[in-house]
Amino acid sequence: MNVLIVGSGGREHAIAVSAAKSPKVDKIYCAPGNAGIAQIAECVPIGAMEFDKLAAFAKEQGIDFTIIGMDDPLAGGIVDVFEAEGLKVFGPRKNAAILEGSKAFSKDLMKKYNIPTAAYETFDDPKDALAWLQTAKMPVVLKADGLALGKGVLICKTLEEAKEGVKSIMEDKTFGSAGNRMVAEEFMTGREVSVLSFTDGKTIRIMSSAQDHKRAKDGDQGLNTGGMGTFSPSPFYTKEVDEFCKKHIYQATVDAMAAEGRPYTGVIFFGLMLTQDGPKVLEYNARFGDPEAQVVLPRMKNDMIEVMEACTEGRLGQIELQFEDNAAVCVVLASGGYPQSYEKGYPIEGLEAFHGKEGYYCFHAGTACKDGKIVTNGGRVLGITAKGKDLKEARQKAYEATGWVDFQKKYMRHDIGKAIDEAQL
Ligand code: AMP
Ligand code: GLY
Repeated sequence: MNVLIVGSGGREHAIAVSAAKSPKVDKIYCAPGNAGIAQIAECVPIGAMEFDKLAAFAKEQGIDFTIIGMDDPLAGGIVDVFEAEGLKVFGPRKNAAILEGSKAFSKDLMKKYNIPTAAYETFDDPKDALAWLQTAKMPVVLKADGLALGKGVLICKTLEEAKEGVKSIMEDKTFGSAGNRMVAEEFMTGREVSVLSFTDGKTIRIMSSAQDHKRAKDGDQGLNTGGMGTFSPSPFYTKEVDEFCKKHIYQATVDAMAAEGRPYTGVIFFGLMLTQDGPKVLEYNARFGDPEAQVVLPRMKNDMIEVMEACTEGRLGQIELQFEDNAAVCVVLASGGYPQSYEKGYPIEGLEAFHGKEGYYCFHAGTACKDGKIVTNGGRVLGITAKGKDLKEARQKAYEATGWVDFQKKYMRHDIGKAIDEAQL
């Protein structure tokens, strides 16, 4: 079969690598893709938001199955456009992708169906938000309602900071129209875990857990980013946590969406916080996490395409997911300055070191091909993943492999997976 992947980051590269392993797949296309994806797929210069062009391309090329990697096209309704054209596509429809597309929607859903999450208020008018803040407990978490590249969340320690936050989100529109509405949330503390799942709208199957590192700098300092590195599995995702979440969160979310007339097909990403009062949902995403996909997918034993087809055909109940009994760590190599301003276009040296190295992956996030040379083309440039028998070995190998490649302004965190040392392994 011919497969089309929509997106251009490290997550889409990881999806492409898994698709390429499937005996069912003859040819992979990716729109728009990047220089790494181009080594295993044919990249097509159509943007992820150009739904009509993408659907026309899929029809012309005889694409049998399309996988949507990114959040924006999902929230914009790409799946509805493809389905209307009779094309098979993996991902939630617009009315279900709202689970990620609107934080107010997801919070209201959790409240209505008793899914554990932080207490919250929703505001459409900054005046109401400011009045409410006067009596609110600090710290408080302010979230732009819509999609903001994982950056629309402000943790405010004082009333002054919170007032500034309201101004930034709702008045200055720092995150654009995502800030037309704002959610103010109780501040929670605890370990964070990312849990990805597949669902066909009825059955939900959980993938191996992971942990992201969202801040730009070592020691969880600096600004929030899309994610600077991940490890999988999380040693903090214990059997007890799993049982609690299976009972109160995962199936409850799928059932709640179905009950709301928004049946959900695709990947649901549960961002969880393990609080003293038990696991609570921080956020939902309507897609694989990035860089979570770069540690979870390489460990999956199933044929990913078969699992995705089972989701779209409503027969996920017949499938059990299987993961390798090992661990993986991904360290993101970014352009210095990310997530703010950074330079692009620097040649990347050493990429060939990964060829034929079992258990090592160099996923391309922001790369391009210029005059026959692979150059940096984004804030997050590469995701260096290694598998090992356990987390410590995987971490040691991943950091070793970060030294195989080089480019000007190469930047990474040095403490990805530090939490591993704190766990009772
Ligand atoms: P989100 O995009 O909603 O996952 O938020 C981004 C990050 O902000 C999360 O990964 C957490 O580190 C932090 N965060 C979000 N909500 C809360 C909360 N209620 N309490 C504490 N930290 C939070
Ligand atoms: N790494 C977090 C995300 O993909 O949203």
